[in-house]
Amino acid sequence: MKVFIIGVAGGVGRRVAEQLAEAGDEPTGLVRRPEQAAALAASGVRTAAGDLVAMSVDELAEAMRGSDAVVFSAGAGGRDSDDATTQVDGDGPGKLAAAAKLAGVRRFVLVSVFPEAWRERRMDAAFERYMVQKKKAETHLVLTGLDWLIVRPSALTNEPGTGRVDLGLAKTHTEIARDDVAATIVALLRAPHLKRLILEVTGGPTPIADAVEAMTGAPQ
Ligand SMILES: NC(=O)c1ccc[n+]([C@@H]2O[C@H](COP(=O)([O-])OP(=O)(O)OC[C@H]3O[C@@H](n4cnc5c(N)ncnc54)[C@H](OP(=O)(O)O)[C@@H]3O)[C@@H](O)[C@H]2O)c1
Repeated sequence: MKVFIIGVAGGVGRRVAEQLAEAGDEPTGLVRRPEQAAALAASGVRTAAGDLVAMSVDELAEAMRGSDAVVFSAGAGGRDSDDATTQVDGDGPGKLAAAAKLAGVRRFVLVSVFPEAWRERRMDAAFERYMVQKKKAETHLVLTGLDWLIVRPSALTNEPGTGRVDLGLAKTHTEIARDDVAATIVALLRAPHLKRLILEVTGGPTPIADAVEAMTGAPQ
C-alpha cells in the first residue's frame, strides 16, 4: 500500500510512516527541512521537499499521484501564527482533498481533535482558534466525495504504545500515546470498507485490531 502523509516528520505522521515501512508498505510524504528527509530515509520512508501552504493543488496532486491513500497529520495549531493555523489546520485538509481528487486518490484519513479537548483548562485564544479551524476542516472534508475517515485522538503523549485503545463514534476525552494513534490509523488504512465515519480514539483496553474490526457495523 502506498500512503502519502502530510505531517510525515511530525509525532503521529512519522509513526504512521515508520509502522507502514516496517510492514513493507510504501509511505511517502513532504518535509520542510533536509535533516527530516535523512532521518526518515533511515527508517525506509521516502520523502520530497514541500510545504502544504506554499504548494499549489496541482503540485500536491503530482506529489501524491499513484498513492492508495492520503493521511493528513500536519498541524500548526497553538505553536505557529494564527495565519498558519488557518492555512494548515483549517484550509490544509480541504486543499489536500482537492489534490487527492485530482490525483484520483479516494481514501483520505484526517487526524482531527475531540471538540471538547482541554476546554476545562481555559486555553488561550490561539488554542480556541485552532479548535475552530480543525472543525472547519472536518466540515469541509465530509462534503467531498472522497472515501474520507476522520480520526479524532485525545491528548497525545509520547509514552510507548500499548497496542490497545478505546475507539468508537463517541468517546470520553482522556489521553493516548502517539504510537497507538499511529497503529490505529495503519489498521484503519487496511480496512477500506470503513469510510465516511468520524471516529474518536483514546487510551483503552481493546487490542487495536479488535477495536477496528468492531467498527465494521458502525452506521455510515
Ligand atoms: N497534540 C495533541 O495533543 C493533539 C490532540 C489531538 C489531535 N492532534 C492533531 O494530531 C495531529 C498530529 O499531531 P502531532 O502533535 O503528532 O504533530 P506534530 O508533531 O506537531 O507534527 C505536525 C507536522 O506538521 C508539519 N507541518 C506543519 N505545517 C506544515 C506545512 N505547511 N507543510 C507541511 N507540513 C507541515 C510539521 O512540519 P515541521 O516538522 O516542518 O514543523 C510537523 O512535522 C495534528 O493534526 C494535531 O492537530 C493533536
